[in-house]
Amino acid sequence: MVENAAEAETDIDSAGSPPLTRRQFVEAVGAVTAAAALTAVGDPAGAAEHPVEAPGAVALTVNGTRHTVAPDSRTSLLDLLREDLQLTGTRKGCDQGACGACTVLLDGRRINACLTLAVMHDGAELTTIEGLADGAALHPLQQAFIDTDAFQCGYCTSGQIMSGVGCIREGHTGSADEIREWMSGNICRCGAYPNIVAAVQQATREA
Ligand code: FES
Ligand code: FES
Repeated sequence: MVENAAEAETDIDSAGSPPLTRRQFVEAVGAVTAAAALTAVGDPAGAAEHPVEAPGAVALTVNGTRHTVAPDSRTSLLDLLREDLQLTGTRKGCDQGACGACTVLLDGRRINACLTLAVMHDGAELTTIEGLADGAALHPLQQAFIDTDAFQCGYCTSGQIMSGVGCIREGHTGSADEIREWMSGNICRCGAYPNIVAAVQQATREA
């Protein structure tokens, strides 16, 4: 039988010294519960239990300018360009390789920047739509897009132009059908395809 309150507070420990009082026990349980709740809210994926290793620095040359960055290892090349380097001319459409809006030239080859991780490209050279013109002089394909009215909303246009530049360099412009085939990864929801093909043909003639 418990004889007084002080004795009641010391009577719950059975694991040895020093014993917890009932008050200490309740406070300890509350602190653990609060910590668990904070973890659940702030880190729903449980990432705190599996921290990502600190990524190393990556050196990229973008439009002739060298950048040394240290992106999270999960950062796509597209997000690095847009969020870290503020080169927002490269567009994010689907973010899963289906639309071509994010097309850039990586070491001279066209690539969907949303499908590759930035940390994979240490030492690479990139060209984005911002690096295509020569000062005030537009690239011939940029000018051709204007001349042939090859855009409406313009959302796909930077990707179309970068892909077109790659297409011309690759020599896949022998016919309208060939251009359509090799540009088929670039979607234009405004349906400006005939004008886009005409622009690529014009730039091919001027190349
Ligand atoms: Fe990269 Fe659509 S945003 S393919
Ligand atoms: Fe609008 Fe191509 S111009 S999506």
